[in-house]
Amino acid sequence: MTPMGKLRLGVNIDHVATLRNARGSAWPDPLRAALLAEAAGADGITAHLREDRRHIRDADMDALRAGTRIPLNFECAATDEMAAIVLRLKPHAVCLVPEKREERTTEGGLDVAGDENRLAHYIAPLREAGCRVSMFIGHDPRQIEASARIGAAVVELHTGHYSDLHAEGRYAEAEAELAALRKGATFAHALGLEVHAGHGLTYENVAPVAAMPEVMELNIGHFLIGEAVFIGLDAAIGEMRRRMDMARGLT
Ligand code: PXP
Repeated sequence: MTPMGKLRLGVNIDHVATLRNARGSAWPDPLRAALLAEAAGADGITAHLREDRRHIRDADMDALRAGTRIPLNFECAATDEMAAIVLRLKPHAVCLVPEKREERTTEGGLDVAGDENRLAHYIAPLREAGCRVSMFIGHDPRQIEASARIGAAVVELHTGHYSDLHAEGRYAEAEAELAALRKGATFAHALGLEVHAGHGLTYENVAPVAAMPEVMELNIGHFLIGEAVFIGLDAAIGEMRRRMDMARGLT
């Protein structure tokens, strides 16, 4: 494999909207966060329009699409409602995620293998509209193969389980999960898929994921927005970038 290139950082700004919605006010504004992230060197903006609109709302997506210059990664469930919005906005990328109303966040990966026919038809018009379609999945090779078969350009590997194990101090299990993620990244790359990763990443746990040579992009949200409360978004993104570059052997 060629020397590792720079890893892209997608900043997920959902939780700026969470904070805004907590008071029903107009602030803090997710677009302002996106523009600050752009100025701080983010390579993309990710936002998840959930079916229940608990954080990002339709008007936020419109504003982000119109107001940001770096690529917008539109996260959503594979529903007809979301397809219509995606086809209207034509974002750079669409990341399909599973969504259950009751969950606090996106807890498991998408079951592409179990819903292959429907998802193949679902993504066809999105691809035709020029969107890079990404599947948010676990490292199960069946899910990776199914993603390749239906014509997805990208798989985003779910790092949530690894992050939880690491946070609970279960380091041996976290290592085993990392090994499975590495294997998944290698397999996906060999099938011609671009590999991204994300969920639950922090300063403390990002390095081994950033060091995976096949991984081209990390999407990080909750930790960065939380850290921004203390040190500002610019500094939080700068520190995350520094750690990603270090893990990649670039500094
Ligand atoms: N990638 C995907 C597909 C996600 O659903 C999320 C959470 O919205 C993230 C990345 C970011 O996760 P976190 O907010 O834990 O950094």
